[in-house]
Amino acid sequence: MIDGPPQDIAVNGDIALRMTGISKRFGPVQALSDVTFTVRRGTVHALVGENGAGKSTLMKILAGVYQPDAGSIEVDGEPCAFSAPAQALAFGISMIYQELDLAEHLTVAENIFLGAEPAGRLPFTVNHKTMVSGTRGLGARFDFEIDPAARVEELSTGDCQIVEILKALRRNASIVVMDEPTSSLSEREAERLFEVVRQLRQRGLSIIYISHRLEEIVGLADEVSVLRDGKLVHSGPMAQLSIPKIVHHMVGRELTDFFPARKAEIGDVCVTVTRLSSDAGVKDVSFDIRRGEIVGMAGLVGAGRTEVAKAIFGVDPMTSGQILVDGDQLRIDSPTDAISNGIALLTEDRKRTGLCLELACSWNITLPNLAQIGMKWMIIPSKETAIAEEAGSRIAMKWASPEAPASSLSGGNQQKLLIARWLLADSRFMIFDEPTRGIDVGAKTEVYSLLNRLAEQGKAILFISSELPELFGIADRILVMRRGRLVGDFVTKQTTPEDVMHLAAVEEN
Ligand SMILES: Nc1ncnc2c1ncn2[C@@H]1O[C@H](COP(=O)(O)OP(=O)(O)OP(=O)(O)O)[C@@H](O)[C@H]1O
Ligand SMILES: [Mg+2]
Repeated sequence: MIDGPPQDIAVNGDIALRMTGISKRFGPVQALSDVTFTVRRGTVHALVGENGAGKSTLMKILAGVYQPDAGSIEVDGEPCAFSAPAQALAFGISMIYQELDLAEHLTVAENIFLGAEPAGRLPFTVNHKTMVSGTRGLGARFDFEIDPAARVEELSTGDCQIVEILKALRRNASIVVMDEPTSSLSEREAERLFEVVRQLRQRGLSIIYISHRLEEIVGLADEVSVLRDGKLVHSGPMAQLSIPKIVHHMVGRELTDFFPARKAEIGDVCVTVTRLSSDAGVKDVSFDIRRGEIVGMAGLVGAGRTEVAKAIFGVDPMTSGQILVDGDQLRIDSPTDAISNGIALLTEDRKRTGLCLELACSWNITLPNLAQIGMKWMIIPSKETAIAEEAGSRIAMKWASPEAPASSLSGGNQQKLLIARWLLADSRFMIFDEPTRGIDVGAKTEVYSLLNRLAEQGKAILFISSELPELFGIADRILVMRRGRLVGDFVTKQTTPEDVMHLAAVEEN
């Protein structure tokens, strides 16, 4: 899988980008201090660091979204300053954001050609045919299957990511920044993306690649730069590094016990789902979860895992089936019903269904918990802040204060905010849909410990994840979904990642 860089390019490649002495402060937070960052032409340059280390901020400065307080930028040896994204685009810099940024009501083709629509035959018209065929051509060139006429709001997160990538490719960028491009892709889609990245490299493009999945960096990157607390602490060839070394640079210490030992005692059956079906494509799914048990759910993107969660939580109407929790047969018509019956759902897509970005962190934490903490009719701000502070400290939230808007947090810390929310909820059955998406290695360990602690308290946990290593590291059992159906139910110790992968992907070829 690992095909090394073309050595002459990696060693002798001209400097495509040089950012020198970059500093940036947001109020009390020094996001970047004196960062010098150099990228060679025709290389994949990984940019890594813990949540809040400053990766996205550095790239937003490159893309002209933020102005640095100090420092300069050169592209191909030419000094430039970007006061708006359009200027960075003109210098061949294309950015794929961590938080997907598509026009949801437009089609795939319209998104890809947004701002560069080919003219139609009549004045002020747009040539849809050209957009559709252009999109199809791009997709074929990079082996992405996507319907140009589909509306973005109907696409899965995985497909939206693909549209973002095609959009950047369409602009003929010379430097492509990918901010956690695979965090929402299945392993299979991710493999396809790596192929695209290698193709881009071969054509002489430079790819700046941000990811918390260090394994993929080892296979992909020619060079690695590490940010810690806004400072560049290491930059050099991948060949001289290893995952433990990268982690050491990231956190400044050794990280042992990535997966904490399971201590929870597994009790009686808590949750029984019987023959669950929904309009969203869930077909006849049955499983149970015991008290104290962590049950993983694997499957490709689009296999129906999130849809199972949504049907249980009352987001998508069930068309048939039963849900029993602690022997009570539940009738769930809405998320409110689910919450009041002790079910919690941590959603996969924090922007669409999770957070109110413009509101305070504290508000985002306490929102679904108002009734429980005796504030059904009135919110007492000081109490709200104190509660949020306590929940935040339990998972090491990095924020200026609980009153800061959720939008000011780094991506990974936004994810932790959602977890903090459910820490407060007194649930019997907790569903986590990709809870470690986009969070750093240290925070991942915190999330695993948290799942463990919840299990120890006797909760039943359904843990949906696209990362097999973490399912194997933490789950007692692994369910496998394929095309809306449950096709496997394994005791983790009695199966292998290859078996699970095979079962999830069979028929697809
Ligand atoms: N618009 C903003 N307003 C206030 N603070 C901000 C803003 N953007 C970023 N920050 C702060 O700057 C720091 C760096 O954030 P950044 O998003 O660059 O981190 P990151 O390395 O991309 O992290 P992650 O891996 O979680 O995405 C964080 O402390 C963050 O809270
Ligand atoms: Mg980021």
